[in-house]
Amino acid sequence: MKVAVLGGGQLGRMLGLHGIPLGATFSFLEPGDAPPAGQVGSVVKAPYGDPAGLEAVASEADVVTYEFENVPVDAARRLESTVPVRPPPAALELAQDRLVEKEGFRSVGIPTADFHPVDDAGDVDRALACTGLPAVAKTRRFGYDGKGQAVVESADEAREFVGARGPGLIFETFVPFDRELSIIAVAGLDGDRRYYPLTENHHHDGILRFSFAPAPGLGEPVRARAETYAAALIDHLGYVGVMAIEFFQVGEDLLANEMAPRVHNSGHWTQDGAAVSQFENHVRAVLGLPLGDATARGHAAMVNLIGDVPRTRDVLDVPGAHVHLYGKRPRRGRKLGHVNVVGGDADEVMAGAVRVARLAGWEGPLPAPGGGG
Ligand SMILES: Nc1ncnc2c1ncn2[C@@H]1O[C@H](COP(=O)(O)OP(=O)(O)O)[C@@H](O)[C@H]1O
Ligand SMILES: [Mg+2]
Repeated sequence: MKVAVLGGGQLGRMLGLHGIPLGATFSFLEPGDAPPAGQVGSVVKAPYGDPAGLEAVASEADVVTYEFENVPVDAARRLESTVPVRPPPAALELAQDRLVEKEGFRSVGIPTADFHPVDDAGDVDRALACTGLPAVAKTRRFGYDGKGQAVVESADEAREFVGARGPGLIFETFVPFDRELSIIAVAGLDGDRRYYPLTENHHHDGILRFSFAPAPGLGEPVRARAETYAAALIDHLGYVGVMAIEFFQVGEDLLANEMAPRVHNSGHWTQDGAAVSQFENHVRAVLGLPLGDATARGHAAMVNLIGDVPRTRDVLDVPGAHVHLYGKRPRRGRKLGHVNVVGGDADEVMAGAVRVARLAGWEGPLPAPGGGG
């Protein structure tokens, strides 16, 4: 069983780490040097849209998948004539453009914040009449980790953003959320679906810093709602594989912010905290194998290692801590690895997460799980 992966970053590496034991082999298409996935499969070094590169990575593959959503949709569609591509390229199309994505959510009954497209200064008044102030101004395409977006407090600030970043923008209502949650869902080729318990996520400077799972204090209606929304999107897209949807929780309501047609940082805790990880389940799904159990084994906290990496020896002193390094060169603001702290006691897991966060250079208090900030 050979899996071709478009992208060769840490997500590809972890697909390999969890897929190889199933008997799968991996090839990755990646333009960058020394990709993290290079240790778990062969690498074709070429741009994502390069026809020769695509042909080389997909040759003799049983399936093509992605670990990165900004691969050209056309390239994925062309591959479909020779080899199954899972998840479907339609999911890439949805995820690549925040406007298409939010319209897609609404079309299948998934609520979002109010939003409006903006291309030039002449659109600003109309957009702000829709979103109100403050608004969040974002580039429609190629944003990640909070890049390409700003909270605007006035029409003047909004026009400034448009002047600097337009055209191709979206304005959204700034949501005063109680907390951020995500759902990781997996859809099998046979129609089976599994949902991991919802994860509570805390961002800092636009980058995911901490996740707690299962999300503490979560009511049954909210969980059910998230699963219903994920199912609606899976149905709409004819989806196969792991999908993530990020939500803002406001009271008992969920507003979808974005989706990822791939394994997701907020699901990394599943490596040590769920019966079967999101990575193994994605590989199972795209290869048409039976899906695995997505239930949590206890409590989990995930701490991202950003910019620099503590000594493994020190982290492993923390009870329940599991180290996952990506083999990347340190750089400010770069995700270099993560640590999962797992256990049967929520307080002990939180205490462990605090110790790990300190080792990772986090100086402030840890965010209080359960919607406290
Ligand atoms: N409309 C919004 N209201 C309030 N906060 C927002 C809004 N949009 C984004 N954010 C904050 O910024 C973070 C990053 O935005 P997101 O749309 O997820 O972009 P990215 O693709 O960079 O992850 C979110 O996780 C959230 O914390
Ligand atoms: Mg996001």
